[in-house]
Amino acid sequence: MPTSTLIRNSFAAAFRVVLVAVVALALSLVAVPPAQAAGGGPSITKKYFGTLSGGKKIDIYTLRNSNGMRVKILTYGGILQSIEVPDSRGRLADVALGFDKLSDYVKQSPYFGCITGRYANRIAKGRFTLDGKTYQLATNDGPNHLHGGNKGFDKRVWQAEPFRRHNSVGLALTYTSPNGEEHYPGTLRAKVVYTLTDDNQIRMDYRATTSRPTVVNLTNHTYFNLRGEGNGRILGHEMRINASHYTPVDKTLIPTGKIARLGGTPLDFREPTAIGDRINSKNQQIVRGGGYDQNYVLDSRGHDLDLAAKVVEPESGRVLEVITDQPGLQFYSGNFLDGTLRGTSGHLYPKRSGFALESQHFPDSPNHKNFPSTVLRPGDVYRTTTIYAFSTM
Ligand code: BGC
Repeated sequence: MPTSTLIRNSFAAAFRVVLVAVVALALSLVAVPPAQAAGGGPSITKKYFGTLSGGKKIDIYTLRNSNGMRVKILTYGGILQSIEVPDSRGRLADVALGFDKLSDYVKQSPYFGCITGRYANRIAKGRFTLDGKTYQLATNDGPNHLHGGNKGFDKRVWQAEPFRRHNSVGLALTYTSPNGEEHYPGTLRAKVVYTLTDDNQIRMDYRATTSRPTVVNLTNHTYFNLRGEGNGRILGHEMRINASHYTPVDKTLIPTGKIARLGGTPLDFREPTAIGDRINSKNQQIVRGGGYDQNYVLDSRGHDLDLAAKVVEPESGRVLEVITDQPGLQFYSGNFLDGTLRGTSGHLYPKRSGFALESQHFPDSPNHKNFPSTVLRPGDVYRTTTIYAFSTM
């Protein structure tokens, strides 16, 4: 072959290589979702997280907003596995207690981050009567029923549907609980939509319908540590709760039925107070819970979306506000954590190293006529919204 032809051929080959590279680059740009291409807008991606012993595969979705805040959600239990938010200097930390392995959630999770149902919190002796019929649920917490029983919503696999809007990104989770599951009456169709907005809020919209009269009380059970999970205790967090009443409990943490005033008790958080300031008080209610484990009767009484609680962590400057339309808020200071669980980043979780603020109806409502009703009937729609709003001081 003459040299000139050889040179022409190698030029043509080089040209082809460049052309292929340019086309590949152009295609990869087109393949990026438009919101991402427009400069770090909200995005959502899905990855495999683990497989349950029955063979079901569990996914983890990562939601990211335009500020870089990141939330990870599992299809197992609808669990908020990680919530990364900036501190006052813009440094991200994961502020939700959790695990990095599915097997830990299955074996030993104290309800980290999950959707809790069908009935979040306790029902005395697992028993209630509705329309003249008595139902016996599992007693999985001493003599009582807790958080939906042996296999509640926290241990179910949810169908996930991701979505993206202009200023937010989200995941719609659905689960149909068959009639009689965990001995609750009615087929309950539940939907929880998590939305991460560009103003650093996680919005949770709950919806449920039933085929027969039943009781329902859904919440999210995230344990927060605004210093970062695995980074010590939560005793220095300053808590404010907009409640002037609460529902005192008996020795087994079941409400006595009284709606009592908080004024003058170490349970009163109407003025911002560090969680640790009065947590070792001899107050009978605090002693019974081993710390804070109380249902606050919100002053808004569950009419509209309203600020229920505000938590400030002075060292990091992180702030969490809980906004809800629910009538109650369970403040649980992680008293049953005992330093044996190793969390997401490999650190052990000591006692009181996370707190939960569970927006909900009052515990044991099916057995207290003076509490707001938790009965859901066919044709009615259970609807409620709670927002975790993050900011800095
Ligand atoms: C309850 C605690 C319970 C914890 C289990 C909280 O919602 O108030 O009493 O021990 O859940 O993780």
